[in-house]
Amino acid sequence: MAQHVCPWWQVWTFDNFFRPLLHNIPKLYSPYVKPGMRVLDVGCGAGFTSLGLARLVGEQGKVFAVDMQPQMLAMVKRRAAKANLEKRIILHQCQQHSLGLKTSVDFVNAFWMVHEIPDIPNFLAEVYGMLKSGGRFLIAEPSHHVKEAELRNIVHEAERVGLAMVEYVKVRWSHAVLLIK
Ligand SMILES: C[S@@+](CC[C@H](N)C(=O)[O-])C[C@H]1O[C@@H](n2cnc3c(N)ncnc32)[C@H](O)[C@@H]1O
Repeated sequence: MAQHVCPWWQVWTFDNFFRPLLHNIPKLYSPYVKPGMRVLDVGCGAGFTSLGLARLVGEQGKVFAVDMQPQMLAMVKRRAAKANLEKRIILHQCQQHSLGLKTSVDFVNAFWMVHEIPDIPNFLAEVYGMLKSGGRFLIAEPSHHVKEAELRNIVHEAERVGLAMVEYVKVRWSHAVLLIK
């Protein structure tokens, strides 16, 4: 059954002026994301995390900002140009059932999006295929939509495809976990 997907016109409800007060991107990601890395930001929405990650990977790094809604990617494109980060951000429109991206990355970010995926085991297998050995994968799910037990189920599915849990991570308004390949 199709899951509820956050429509592009609702993105302003959480990607707005207040978001940096809630989610401090350098603090959250700098332990994992270093200059020169290749990062996948899947379900990137309007690009709040993509832009922050692009700053962390620096001029030699790349962020693949991936979403199924072209309107979301158009917003990322506009914001990346405004922030002079467009050379570091590669936009990719995926399908709901397939990321369809053939590349390898050091880090994957899935922020407030896994609960919208119709086939989570298939999604996790695709992420596994793209992650380099030793690469890390952060999943943050919104605690107002997703129970902790549901995140534990996602972790079990991730372990089935070959990922290992590192730790639960503290993220405001979220249940979050760090995985490794
Ligand atoms: C709640 S928004 C979160 C956006 C962003 N990660 C953030 O934290 O601001 C969820 C995003 O996931 C995207 N999404 C949902 N299902 C998807 C799928 N199967 N493949 C790719 N993107 C998907 C939606 O289009 C939406 O942009």
